[in-house]
Amino acid sequence: MFIKSNLQNEDVEMEMNTSRPLKTQVMAVDRENPDLNKIRIAARVIREGGLVAFPTETVYGLGANTFDVEAVLRIFRAKNRPYDNPLIVHVSEKDAVYDLAREIPDTVEVLTRRFWPGPLTLLLKRAPHVPRPENIDEITVRMPDHKVALALIAESEVPISAPSANISGGVSPTTAQHVYQDLAGKIEVILDGGRCDVGVESTVLDLTGEVPTILRPGGITLEDLKAVLGNVEVHPVAAAEGKTEAEARAPGMKYKHYSPHADVIVVEGEVQRMVNKINQLVDQNIRQGLKVGVMATGETVQSYSHGLIKVVGSRQNLETVARNLFDVLRAFDEQGVDVVIAEGVVTTEIGLAIMNRLRKSAGFNIIRV
Ligand code: TXA
Ligand code: MG
Repeated sequence: MFIKSNLQNEDVEMEMNTSRPLKTQVMAVDRENPDLNKIRIAARVIREGGLVAFPTETVYGLGANTFDVEAVLRIFRAKNRPYDNPLIVHVSEKDAVYDLAREIPDTVEVLTRRFWPGPLTLLLKRAPHVPRPENIDEITVRMPDHKVALALIAESEVPISAPSANISGGVSPTTAQHVYQDLAGKIEVILDGGRCDVGVESTVLDLTGEVPTILRPGGITLEDLKAVLGNVEVHPVAAAEGKTEAEARAPGMKYKHYSPHADVIVVEGEVQRMVNKINQLVDQNIRQGLKVGVMATGETVQSYSHGLIKVVGSRQNLETVARNLFDVLRAFDEQGVDVVIAEGVVTTEIGLAIMNRLRKSAGFNIIRV
């Protein structure tokens, strides 16, 4: 059964215990100056228990009212996400973290002053009044640096729980088109605010232990955090150097991630040796009758001549690689590539987040030269 939500002028169909496809409404919004009328329509959907995909500075999120457990559970169904993989709670004001968590360490004040709004997610102990649909005692909170996201949260007047707006296990979305491809018919609204700037997800920092620990590297780097906190650890799973699933600290760390349909092979090492190895692999795979994609960088693209070659960004400016990474992985899939062979980059600064995503997308199929 469908109910029409009683929005002025707008027809947004809401799901009521049905698996029949919804009509997903896409609304273009100006990222610098979001139209408040459109934001209010989306906020109303959130308040009525619906799902809204929205842009953030990292990737698109799929949001529901944190205090509406039924709505939050719908996110898991829409994405086909395992129920024990918890969601990040998005807020539009720094102080909101104090309402959502308990036993908050002093570092939170320092970190939110320096990095919020921005791509840093803080893992804390959950306040007792906050629902726990994922059945865990911790909570993750972040304030995104995006006017559309902030306006949506503020107008909804509730915190918004949101994972990345893709089918679970797949590649995160950095455009509204990516979201539409994955979730059309399953969610009420997509706010289209254009392409995301950072391109990889937020850094997840665990503040519940002795030493702040990065569980997932992201937009705020280890170096950024060390400059403010001094001592910061990187969980072995966050480096993603190989399979260490038994040690996984965050429930989500154990699941398959960022996987396009194509197989991915990552080649890492000194640039010239890497290029030589990739050329050899391309020829081998083409001889086997496979359609091969090469994920190259601006500095190396001239060294390849076979296969479908795409430039992901520049080694001199790894922010460009982060920004384009997921889009390029999706583009290879759209062009029916069987195998993507990708160049590795250094694991300093944003490179750590890039290599975490690439190594996981490759299922740790890493060749070191
Ligand atoms: O940039 C981002 O963080 C994006 C945008 C939409 O904000 N969100 C995002 O959410 O990437 P998601 O669900 O795709 O990834 C969140 C990660 C998962 O690995 C999850 O397991 C972990 O953070 N996480 C979330 N809440 C947690 C909790 N309470 N305890 C442990 N890990 C948690
Ligand atoms: Mg995700």
